[in-house]
Amino acid sequence: MTIKEQIDRDRLPRHVAIIMDGNGRWALSQGNQRIFGHEHGVEAVRSVVEGAGEVGIGYLTLYAFSTENWLRPREEVDALMNLLVQAINDETASLKKNRVKLLTIGDFDSLPPVVREKLAWSLEELRDCDGLRLIIALSYSARWEITRAARLLADDVRRGAVCDADIVPQLFDKYLTTKDIPDPELLIRTSGEFRISNFLLWQIAYSELYFTPVLWPDFRKENLFEAIVDYQQRERRFGKTSQQVGT
Ligand code: FPP
Repeated sequence: MTIKEQIDRDRLPRHVAIIMDGNGRWALSQGNQRIFGHEHGVEAVRSVVEGAGEVGIGYLTLYAFSTENWLRPREEVDALMNLLVQAINDETASLKKNRVKLLTIGDFDSLPPVVREKLAWSLEELRDCDGLRLIIALSYSARWEITRAARLLADDVRRGAVCDADIVPQLFDKYLTTKDIPDPELLIRTSGEFRISNFLLWQIAYSELYFTPVLWPDFRKENLFEAIVDYQQRERRFGKTSQQVGT
């Protein structure tokens, strides 16, 4: 039985989020520049998007560029931005054919105009697609998102649209950049690091975490399927006891 056949289609995670890590180490281990790893990372993205579509995942979020990544050497940041523009340009037709709808989370305004324009074009091209939701986190960090939400909420309180008693988790959700997206049931991080790195801190409260030593450029849809099979073997209790969730 292949790993894909081992997946129970009735118990799929609706939303899978991935911290793509290890591009730099992958390239350096071969005596190449870090950007070489990012370039090969695009192949991993393609395979994983394809795999998610094949098994019927609803939402796939990829952490492509964090707020902190702006602190990397200028040439790496520029190369990553160029790679993004190129990837969006090259992949949009195929995404459309596969009915993939693109969404972004993050500080859109901080991106270079060329990236914003290419993204805006792709978002519009894929606007009516009704298949997999592919969410790219760009210039994103959870603390940026949560403080932004707090500021927007404070504005609404000040103008009387919201009162103190209205402030419950479900309301706070509406102020996040992920407001129409369900929380991820499964969070994957590649490259053997055991960190969350400021990613979706609010949304992963009850996510199952899956860490793999595979470096991102080597990650393929089969690795995603392995993570899903592992997820399906876990008992999700949400703070209750085993007996309670079993009944
Ligand atoms: C982490 O590896 C990877 C990134 C910061 C960038 C990920 C970007 C891509 C895969 C390119 C295109 C993306 C899309 C969505 C088309 P790292 O550089 O932190 O690796 P290291 O930990 O080994 O240094």
